[in-house]
Amino acid sequence: MKKLSILKAVAALGFFASTAIAAPVIKLGHVDGSEWQTSKKGSAAIIFKKIVEGETDIKVEIFPAKALGNESEMIQQVQEGITSMAIVSGAMSKVCPAASVLDIPYTFSSPSVAWDVLDGQFGKELSAHCLEETGLRTLAYGETGFRNFTNNTKEIKTPADMKGLKFRVMPIPLYVEMVKGLGGEPTPIAWSELPNALSTGVVDGQENPVGTIYNNKFHKLQKYMILDNHVYGADFIVINDELFGMFTPAQQEIIQKAARIAGTMGRAIQQFNTADGVTKIVAEGMKVYSPTKDELNQFKKMAQPAVKKWLASELGSDSVWIKKLDKAVQEATN
Ligand code: MLT
Repeated sequence: MKKLSILKAVAALGFFASTAIAAPVIKLGHVDGSEWQTSKKGSAAIIFKKIVEGETDIKVEIFPAKALGNESEMIQQVQEGITSMAIVSGAMSKVCPAASVLDIPYTFSSPSVAWDVLDGQFGKELSAHCLEETGLRTLAYGETGFRNFTNNTKEIKTPADMKGLKFRVMPIPLYVEMVKGLGGEPTPIAWSELPNALSTGVVDGQENPVGTIYNNKFHKLQKYMILDNHVYGADFIVINDELFGMFTPAQQEIIQKAARIAGTMGRAIQQFNTADGVTKIVAEGMKVYSPTKDELNQFKKMAQPAVKKWLASELGSDSVWIKKLDKAVQEATN
């Protein structure tokens, strides 16, 4: 775990004083927009600020829209105590590899199963493990949404329809393995290059949550979407643990409570984005397919073993988290 110098900690909390100790400041960064009606991380940050400022003398400064950098940069800042808190998604598994088990495709059959797993024993154990590995305390889990495939070539109903199609994936090896397992051709491309790759036909398709697809107008560049919900994206609401330890127990309780409510808020806004996004995407001409249970099972059967095999060898001793997650999902599903 990265140790933090007391000076950095004091600076990050804003314990700067002239004559007396001023109110501490929590600096909270995220990559989403700043308004609360459609931004999952934005809404989470705003309600966190309202509760903490309403119930303590702590000030919360929000830095939205990558103002502090990308997710990996923010994680590093929080680890070093330069920033106090961040709301991050995929980048968490770069510093805490066990968290990547959440990306095993077709693991969660519904948002409520994911919520039960993350808010239950599994989520607590993962949070304790990542704290040990990184010095980041996960106060709560929010939501960045289920990811779905879109493409511009043909309607996909089963993995057989993916054969020969090129899909842009994030430059994350697990996603390459997933698309390979499904019989498609994965092409890792940076997010910033994605609109260009879609409009020039470098790739036939891509995968992202509905809200992201709609907000970035990918439905204008792609004809088809299958709501296969392959990966559930969780948000991690994290704070530097040493900074957290500098608050009084009463303040810590309020920070913890505010983060849980923030996670719930982010989940609700994300659910709204999905429902609203599908309606608008269909109205604007995209063909959207909801697979049957049997068709979904075909996706799961092809993608999961391939990804699990690859991930187990990547994670080494951390591969125990694959079994832990399977057990938790089974309990939450029954
Ligand atoms: C991506 O596809 O690169 C990400 O899903 C973009 C994002 O984090 O919104």
